[in-house]
Amino acid sequence: MVYGYPIRRIGRGVVEDSLCSERSLQVVYLPLVLSPISVPWVPTSRRALEELCNFITFRSTDVFYDLGCGDGRVVIEVAKRFGIKAVGIEVRPDLVELAKINVVREGVSDKVEIIHGDFFRIPIHNATVVYAYLLTSVNRLLKPKLSSELKPGTRVVTLDFEIPGWKPIAIRRFHDRTERRLYLYIIGVSDRAYVV
Ligand SMILES: C[S@@+](CC[C@H](N)C(=O)[O-])C[C@H]1O[C@@H](n2cnc3c(N)ncnc32)[C@H](O)[C@@H]1O
Repeated sequence: MVYGYPIRRIGRGVVEDSLCSERSLQVVYLPLVLSPISVPWVPTSRRALEELCNFITFRSTDVFYDLGCGDGRVVIEVAKRFGIKAVGIEVRPDLVELAKINVVREGVSDKVEIIHGDFFRIPIHNATVVYAYLLTSVNRLLKPKLSSELKPGTRVVTLDFEIPGWKPIAIRRFHDRTERRLYLYIIGVSDRAYVV
């Protein structure tokens, strides 16, 4: 039997929509639903990080969050370049440990905080810029949290995967082996754009 809704199939950096069979639903989808690890670790590339830093205008008062921060490379780079507070949330203990080591090694312990936990459960009220390199399906699930917790004017940037139903204020296209995109959303604007 084929279910009529899409899931994500992940393989060697390729993520695509496909219809799932009953068996693939059990094998692929259920473990993802039951686990807080909703996305595998695929680090933001050097090039994408450079594009992110040029795309967003950071202010000295900004508080930057990376939802699923992996080894901490994005929070570390943003804190170093712009001298702002940055918070990374990561569910995998091995990556949390690695990110904390990297924070100390890069000399940004006073600016960067790494939180071990599920980003669906960790409060992010004080963020002014949120970065998410996740999946469209996870971005969809994050919408209520982003809309309810973040202040109007907070910028949300996603790499490669859109927030479905929200209107991006700007899209940055660049080439990094493949065509890639950064999407910029603003709370209070992007999340209300389709409400009459
Ligand atoms: C595509 S990687 C991006 C890593 C990092 N943001 C970067 O750009 O280099 C997604 C990360 O999200 C983490 N993750 C997945 N689900 C999570 C959850 N529910 N809470 C916290 N982290 C999660 C994964 O372990 C992984 O490190």
